[in-house]
Amino acid sequence: MAVGSVLVTGGTGYIGSFTTLALIQVGYKVVIVDSLYNSSDEVVNRIELLSGTKPAFYSLDITDEAALDKVFTENPDIDSVIHFAALKAVGESGEIPLEYFRVNVYGSMCLLKSMEKHNVTNIVFSSSATVYGDATRFPNMIPIPEDCPQGPTNSYGDTKVAVERLISAQINAQRNKAKKGGKSGDEYNAALLRYFNPAGSHPSGIMGEDPQGVPYNLLPLLAQVATGKREKLLVFGDDYDSKDGTAIRDYIHILDLANGHLLALNYLREQHPGVKAWNLGTGRGSTVFEMINAFKKACGKDLKYEVVGRRDGDVLNLTANADLAKKELGWKPEHTLEDACVDLWRWTENNPQGYRQQPPKKLLEK
Ligand code: NAD
Ligand code: WQD
Repeated sequence: MAVGSVLVTGGTGYIGSFTTLALIQVGYKVVIVDSLYNSSDEVVNRIELLSGTKPAFYSLDITDEAALDKVFTENPDIDSVIHFAALKAVGESGEIPLEYFRVNVYGSMCLLKSMEKHNVTNIVFSSSATVYGDATRFPNMIPIPEDCPQGPTNSYGDTKVAVERLISAQINAQRNKAKKGGKSGDEYNAALLRYFNPAGSHPSGIMGEDPQGVPYNLLPLLAQVATGKREKLLVFGDDYDSKDGTAIRDYIHILDLANGHLLALNYLREQHPGVKAWNLGTGRGSTVFEMINAFKKACGKDLKYEVVGRRDGDVLNLTANADLAKKELGWKPEHTLEDACVDLWRWTENNPQGYRQQPPKKLLEK
């Protein structure tokens, strides 16, 4: 029997697909909903290849409450949701903020409403380190703890703060209502997981990040330089107050990030904490130049770059203090950023068309 049944929104996306795989591997039944706006349904076949189980998949938009209702009705055993579905391009969020708030905030409202109707009481939410904004504006906030004041510097980050508050308000209201009715309300719980910079691919080379448009994150861009798809990397500023002048980020392997979701979900189900936020990051900060060198080593190629001006909205340092996740969830990153670079290169080299091609036989035979 399944250890539980989970709805994963955005489950064919990058982080959602790895979390679905991890859930299935420990015995959960998973139902994915995704609009395929930024992903491919080929992902469910890859999850089956790696786990032996194909998750149920519904192609729907989370702003369609009736469609969500139908999924909960057809899968009455679902007791928890992991909510990844969102728009996530920081630059674009400044150009079309209404669309970002519609999908990310209104979409989350539809989800919470549908959960309430169907008595689904646990939610794990994909928040982001971006909720902190520039933590260097405070003394002693690097590495960043969960109680660092929030201050996003872009509309995408604003939506993450808004959804954190929305979820907190809803869970607290549901708990209070239950208490007024003489019940404990303990079953209503939420984990707000603030990810730092997710990186890497599955070590098999069969699953990885395959965004539909032009990537804007550092590692996928470096991978394109390595394959020749892109001539060079533009380094956004070398005048930061860091050891080599480039900005510092905390790169976390996608397998460790996925595992963090499992542990958070288990914690909600077993400890009934109400609403809790946890950082998921390694605590190791790396500069852009260090990342270029790490990826150079992984792919064995020279990677051309050119230093240009700072990118709007970028901050000097986003490095996590993840002590709370370690202490409370028993979470520990097991993979290094060097592993992430090697795994990303294996995925990129073997799947030039991403999920639009079948994986090479040599990988399947392993
Ligand atoms: P992704 O784009 O790969 O996955 C998001 C998925 O949501 C996609 O499959 C997309 O098709 C789906 N989606 C988008 N709009 C939808 C809608 N209206 N209805 C249904 N599905 C919809 O992104 P990801 O990197 O896997 O990110 C997952 C979550 O983690 C997002 O909430 C993102 O904001 C958050 N996050 C990502 C990062 C990162 O750097 N990748 C960092 C912190 C937080
Ligand atoms: C990493 C570093 C860039 C591209 C973003 C979101 C954040 C979270 C993770 C969702 C930075 C530098 C990058 C390039 C460069 N996502 N860089 N040249 O900005 O840390 O975080 O993704 O929640 O909210 O803001 O990630 O990969 O874009 O950049 O020099 O072409 O690489 O300046 O220092 P970022 P990133």
